[in-house]
Amino acid sequence: MDAHVTNAYSGEIFDLWDTYKKVVVEDFMFHAALSQEVERALGARFRGGDFSLLDLGCGDAHVFAPILRRIPPASYKGVDLSDTALALAAENLKSLPCPVRLAHSDMLSALSDGGTYDVIHSSFVLHHLSTEDKAEFFRRASHALAPGGVLLLVDTMREEDETREDYLKHYFDWIENDWTGLSRAEKEAVYEHISTSDFPEPLSLLDRQAREVDLKRLSGEVPHRWHHLMRFERV
Ligand SMILES: C[S@@+](CC[C@H](N)C(=O)[O-])C[C@H]1O[C@@H](n2cnc3c(N)ncnc32)[C@H](O)[C@@H]1O
Repeated sequence: MDAHVTNAYSGEIFDLWDTYKKVVVEDFMFHAALSQEVERALGARFRGGDFSLLDLGCGDAHVFAPILRRIPPASYKGVDLSDTALALAAENLKSLPCPVRLAHSDMLSALSDGGTYDVIHSSFVLHHLSTEDKAEFFRRASHALAPGGVLLLVDTMREEDETREDYLKHYFDWIENDWTGLSRAEKEAVYEHISTSDFPEPLSLLDRQAREVDLKRLSGEVPHRWHHLMRFERV
């Protein structure tokens, strides 16, 4: 574990893959709209084949893989703490026409492996880090971005005036009413996971942490309730 990482993240903090698949297929967390925006951002800046890509907390890569088949990178590296996820990702990414590397690694450690990347992508992972480690994430991402590179960050965020407690209450009320099709046991497992592992920040805090390390947020994003895509480049 890296000495600069304040919290130790190891093991499978996310073991709800069957439930998560349902959430993605039913589009409860707006994966469809957000991944369209990710695809637009990639397509606007890169043609297929001319960018290196680091995917932090790649999970099973179920959502990202089809985008990468349409806009293939020159190289793909995905890291995750879950071996289950990495095995599923290997299957989902096997038809990419580029070298694919998958590694069991913490996202912060992966950002200090000495590599630089044209695209650093992370979807629904950053909220697991403490506030201090989110600042460290931006610091390391800023160093690991190649000139002209872009950081694409999909994640849940609290409203500006929402405490974490309020956020959890609002988010759970929303799940209770809108996530139809999940069983009681599945919903309870989701609540347990979010209560113990999710620490979303207001957008302004992430924006400030990024600015402090010379990352400029690009305009034009549309939030989908608490779910956002943020795009950054080095100033
Ligand atoms: C909600 S899933 C998102 C998966 C995928 N990126 C997506 O958008 O569908 C969160 C993933 O982040 C991984 N994860 C959580 N904390 C991590 C960390 N500190 N470093 C690397 N991966 C992490 C989990 O194992 C899980 O696979």
